[in-house]
Amino acid sequence: MRPGLVLAVGPNGVGKTNLLEAIHVATQGFSPRTRTDAQLVRFGDAGARAAVTGRRGEVELELEVTVRPGEGKRARLNGAPLRTAEQLRTTVSTLVFTPDRLGVVKGAPAARRAYFDRVLARLFPARASLSVEYGAAIAQRNAALRRAAGGWSTREAIEPWSDRVVSLGAELVAGRLEAIATLEAGFAERAGELGLEAAVVRYEGEAPTREALDVALERDLERGTTSLGPHLDDVLLLAGDRDLRGFGSQGEQRLALLALLLAEAEAITERSGIPPLLLLDDVLSELDPSRRLILAERVRRAGQALITATDAAMLPAEADQLLEVTPGAIAEAA
Ligand SMILES: Nc1ncnc2c1ncn2[C@@H]1O[C@H](COP(=O)(O)OP(=O)(O)O)[C@@H](O)[C@H]1O
Ligand SMILES: [Mg+2]
Repeated sequence: MRPGLVLAVGPNGVGKTNLLEAIHVATQGFSPRTRTDAQLVRFGDAGARAAVTGRRGEVELELEVTVRPGEGKRARLNGAPLRTAEQLRTTVSTLVFTPDRLGVVKGAPAARRAYFDRVLARLFPARASLSVEYGAAIAQRNAALRRAAGGWSTREAIEPWSDRVVSLGAELVAGRLEAIATLEAGFAERAGELGLEAAVVRYEGEAPTREALDVALERDLERGTTSLGPHLDDVLLLAGDRDLRGFGSQGEQRLALLALLLAEAEAITERSGIPPLLLLDDVLSELDPSRRLILAERVRRAGQALITATDAAMLPAEADQLLEVTPGAIAEAA
């Protein structure tokens, strides 16, 4: 793949999405479509391998991921085995748009929390494990609640976990707020130029306090779960004062997701000096030609991008490289 905008074209069913998924697996260690790695293996094959070579800034990189059902997943970075395939994420940032990602906009709050926690991890790598640590503290507190409610333990035993939920919860909320503050201006701009006016991204929630947890204790004991904290917060995506989750058209929801991705790409480039790889599946079909042009210029500037389409004519600009996808093969168009 050349730098700039790479367009991969071919009729439906030839394997464009497979190509994009393979690049995602090779660069991030997991599929954007499924967490069941066995699904990545071609029907009838014993395993799968995805490998890419490229440059990150001036540094040559070779990334490789292999999946063998039963044996798990292995990843190598420049030939050296990694502890987990997901570690690739700390080396390369890949941002992906696929139509089935629309759940980020129209799905339940959990989908948005997960999305923005990944944004947080990409923008501030030092805080990448925060959401997992917070989740563990919640699980521990919930277990302590159930032990106390069942009479196997005391209420005092819940307190250390309440304190940990408070401190990690405050860090997580601060991190999410910072991530959203980093994106919000770019999000509004990119959305606006793609045709979604007055786009706003806003965090809904606040850091839990010890007082609030203590007030909720009886209820929490009864339910066996922690009823407040950032594991229940949401991120609102609005057009004006319209919540796009419930009141956005499919087209608007797509634009919001795309604008988030473009804003993040710019933020990553600004912070790290290294632009992310963009993988945009079927993104052109619902944009009118003038907006396709704007998108093409944006992603070209953003670094390296792969866009799939059924027809090269869908891009009203010249791609830096045109790939023709046929079942089982990819060829550079003459
Ligand atoms: N694990 C698999 N092994 C072999 N073929 C598969 C597997 N998963 C999907 N396919 C096939 O890949 C094709 C879909 O490719 P896809 O990348 O979605 O096409 P496109 O995006 O170009 O429309 C389908 O024909 C589907 O049956
Ligand atoms: Mg496809």
